[in-house]
Amino acid sequence: MEVRQLEGGDLVAVMGLATELLGSERAGPFVRSHVERHHLLVAEADTQVIGFLAFRTDWFQCTFVTAVAVRKDFRRRGAARALYRAVESMSPSPRLFSSTEETNSTSIRMHTALGFAPSGHIDNLPQGYRELLFYKRVAP
Ligand SMILES: CC(C)(COP(=O)(O)OP(=O)(O)OC[C@H]1O[C@@H](n2cnc3c(N)ncnc32)[C@H](O)[C@@H]1OP(=O)(O)O)[C@@H](O)C(=O)NCCC(=O)NCCS
Repeated sequence: MEVRQLEGGDLVAVMGLATELLGSERAGPFVRSHVERHHLLVAEADTQVIGFLAFRTDWFQCTFVTAVAVRKDFRRRGAARALYRAVESMSPSPRLFSSTEETNSTSIRMHTALGFAPSGHIDNLPQGYRELLFYKRVAP
């Protein structure tokens, strides 16, 4: 498995994953804004894009993972772990944040397994659930 920056040919696969995660209305603008900033990493296996991780570096002067998704048929093979390792190695800040809905037990388990600690939550979002924040200190 390889993790690398998104290339033009990856867009269809990434849009598919983003649409599943965010819905068709939000996926386009979301992907576009991260592509413009070169803040979109993909995991590739067997010459196919099997996952992506999007992030931003302007969130309270910290790095924030805005979305991560792995194709259903490639889960539990370390793709998310590899994507987080990659963003950790390129983060301009030693403060890495990530988040998930309080109902997403798989993602909560993943964050714990990857060494994140709980770091508060956000209420009053349109999604109707509390968004849990996670924090990890990474080597600068
Ligand atoms: C959450 C998600 C990104 C994890 O991707 P993944 O590639 O399967 O994760 P990894 O294989 O790297 O797992 C890393 C660790 O997280 C934990 N983990 C991941 N999936 C888990 C599950 N279903 N149940 C329990 N623990 C899990 C494990 O500790 C795992 O390590 P291990 O396999 O050595 O035990 C994937 O399930 C997904 O795309 N879900 C839908 C989108 C989503 O919810 N994104 C997060 C919110 S934006």
